Amino acid sequence: MAYDFDTIARGYDRMNHLMTLGLDRRWRRRATKEVVCGQWPAASVLDVACGTGDMVCNLVQRGCTVTGVDLSEEMLAIARRKTALASFQLADAEHLPFPDGSFDAVTCAFGVRNFVHLEKGLGEMLRVLKPGGRMVILELATPDNKLLRPFYNFYTKHIIPWLGSRIAGNRDAYTYLPDSITRFPKGDAFLDIIQHSTFSIQHSCHRRLTFGVCRLYTINKRAAE
Ligand SMILES: C[S@@+](CC[C@H](N)C(=O)[O-])C[C@H]1O[C@@H](n2cnc3c(N)ncnc32)[C@H](O)[C@@H]1O
Repeated sequence: MAYDFDTIARGYDRMNHLMTLGLDRRWRRRATKEVVCGQWPAASVLDVACGTGDMVCNLVQRGCTVTGVDLSEEMLAIARRKTALASFQLADAEHLPFPDGSFDAVTCAFGVRNFVHLEKGLGEMLRVLKPGGRMVILELATPDNKLLRPFYNFYTKHIIPWLGSRIAGNRDAYTYLPDSITRFPKGDAFLDIIQHSTFSIQHSCHRRLTFGVCRLYTINKRAAE
């Protein structure tokens, strides 16, 4: 079953900025650049698992027409208060209510880790992407650097759950977070899942952000023949 984000919606933004030391903003800006850069000046964008709408706001500021979808009504309520220039919809990433090839770009920031059926969600995101379009995904990961890992483990296993109980009043939700990061495939392992589920990928790559604690995945869909 999908984790219920309604329960942590109110403190979500504050907790997010605090536990990432504000880096989450920078990571979303980097992902936004990937959507609106050079030959990819996407006009229409679907932000999947949009949560409280920070990625949507970034894309709107860069001139995109944006639709945000999420499973949590409470998260969407906060997103709607942040911008009236985008449309928001309650929808499941695994059953997106849009026809094939509807969007120039599809984004998902820190959402795919929470999908119950990862391949189904990724398949849907690719289906609604236009041929020749771009999918940009941000996700948290454990750092590769062995020297950094003990600090990272201590921070995620002890400090974050403690912050979760003090700031968000929900220790369990922030104990789930490091567990789900550790379990989730990162880098090439994640891209392999996408590559093996479809023939429609033209190019894919990933970048390590901030020592690899965040990964930026860029996937270009093959243009129509
Ligand atoms: C960690 S939050 C990320 C929110 C936002 N994208 C951000 O950048 O902060 C994960 C979000 O994924 C949503 N979510 C989880 N599974 C989903 C699904 N199958 N379909 C749509 N949204 C989903 C949750 O409701 C939650 O709002």
